[in-house]
Amino acid sequence: MTIRARLTLDPDFRIAPVEPRLFGSFVEHMGRCVYSGIFEPGHPDADADGFRTDVLELVRELGVTLVRYPGGNFVSNHRWEDAVGPVEQRPTTLDLAWRSVEDNRFGLNEFMAWTAKARVEPMMALNLGTRGVAEALQLVEYATYPAGTRWSELRRSHGVDKPHDIRLWCLGNELDGPWQMGHKTAREYGRLAAETARALKRLDPALSLVACGSSNSSIETFGGWEAEVLEETYDLVDYISLHAYYDPSDGDTDSFLASAADMEHMIRSIAATADHVAAKLRSRKRLKLSFDEWNVWYQSRFGGESTLEWAKHPRLIEDRYDVTDAVVVGSLLITLLRNADRVGVACQAQLANVIAPIMTEPGGPAWRQSIFHPFALTARHARGEVLRVEPDSPGIATEKYGEVPSVWATATHDPATGALTLFAVNRHRDGPCELEVKLPAHLAPVEHLELADADPSAANTAAEPHRVVPRPGTGLWCEDGTATLALPPASWTMVRFAAAAKE
Ligand code: AHR
Repeated sequence: MTIRARLTLDPDFRIAPVEPRLFGSFVEHMGRCVYSGIFEPGHPDADADGFRTDVLELVRELGVTLVRYPGGNFVSNHRWEDAVGPVEQRPTTLDLAWRSVEDNRFGLNEFMAWTAKARVEPMMALNLGTRGVAEALQLVEYATYPAGTRWSELRRSHGVDKPHDIRLWCLGNELDGPWQMGHKTAREYGRLAAETARALKRLDPALSLVACGSSNSSIETFGGWEAEVLEETYDLVDYISLHAYYDPSDGDTDSFLASAADMEHMIRSIAATADHVAAKLRSRKRLKLSFDEWNVWYQSRFGGESTLEWAKHPRLIEDRYDVTDAVVVGSLLITLLRNADRVGVACQAQLANVIAPIMTEPGGPAWRQSIFHPFALTARHARGEVLRVEPDSPGIATEKYGEVPSVWATATHDPATGALTLFAVNRHRDGPCELEVKLPAHLAPVEHLELADADPSAANTAAEPHRVVPRPGTGLWCEDGTATLALPPASWTMVRFAAAAKE
């Protein structure tokens, strides 16, 4: 059954500029994200530093702007000193988060060399699980102080003469979660985060700091955690973090396709919580949100950390993504853009092999998963300012999120070129959606791509790496400032409009 929907694109209705930091990713020492993911000395495509150049090319194509490192749960038991200095002198250690044996061959300085080649901004996480203020200060001094002090000279003795340019620091990871090494109550964490932030800002007032928010929206302390943490840290931090993973495993596809409703609810709730704390503190500062872990994750297929055997670089949560997963990823990106006035940083978790858009085989090829494509196209074409877009579409009843609109959309307008780009998802699975788009009359479509498939479970593999790719859309008519667009069932679509050439 065909459904009908409409929306208006008006460059005068703006939400906020597109923040490049929304197209972040995440590299954790987990499974094969680092080892045989981005780093594999001896691979035929490895450069002199051991970085896989085939993966570097895909990272640049993906359009990633920022990468969070080194965890994740990993960071909460990590000693950064173990992973710097001469490689042959680095100890082998136990990563308690993922029951993995870590040889520390790749650490801070290798990561920073990799970010330069990938052309991405680093976002570093500090261990506030098993460590505290002193160790955080030592790491920041090692990494960013120019010279002449104990820790900066140690860095220089490791062959890194110039300080690293690292502005964004996470004050720990998911410390609300009982699974976290060094799990704390909100008050305990809030006090530690505040003291760490105070000391770090004394070292360098220009640093941007991210306080840990909740690790998901279903955890009992969601909302209350943020309120308590921000009461301690509001004036000292620049962001509060959010994490969310959406699991398709239960087969409730209508709810899964509506996952963005949960992401939107989280963003609105945490923004409101931050504003509530600001009001109590009589603060005019408006805190930004850092959605620094988000993705689709078939989490219930993972038995949990306790089921893992100790191993070195094991294959962990190497989910294979299909067409529906890519549509959901596209809708989550739409949500981040729709909330660009509050979300200042976002990182898809993770980058390679571990719930990732890029897959690799040791000694073998690298390829793009289905979820690579909506990310790459959004990162490339969302330019300028995000417009306020309010689609009017029939509702879909979902088990988990109640009634949600069948069409989810956003658009950007580039004032420099006048170009408009529309990103839209049709959540309706039983038929296409005829979407009427009102837009400035001088614009005409220049590119129309969609991710859709007669087989929504189709996926890319090493043997068939181009099975799922964006294809030119066919149903688009434009006349007198109205474009009519046929969105296939359960699909993601991008249309770029530019000024029509004069005859
Ligand atoms: O990305 C995988 C894990 O998910 C991260 O280590 C943790 O922060 C989150 O729970």
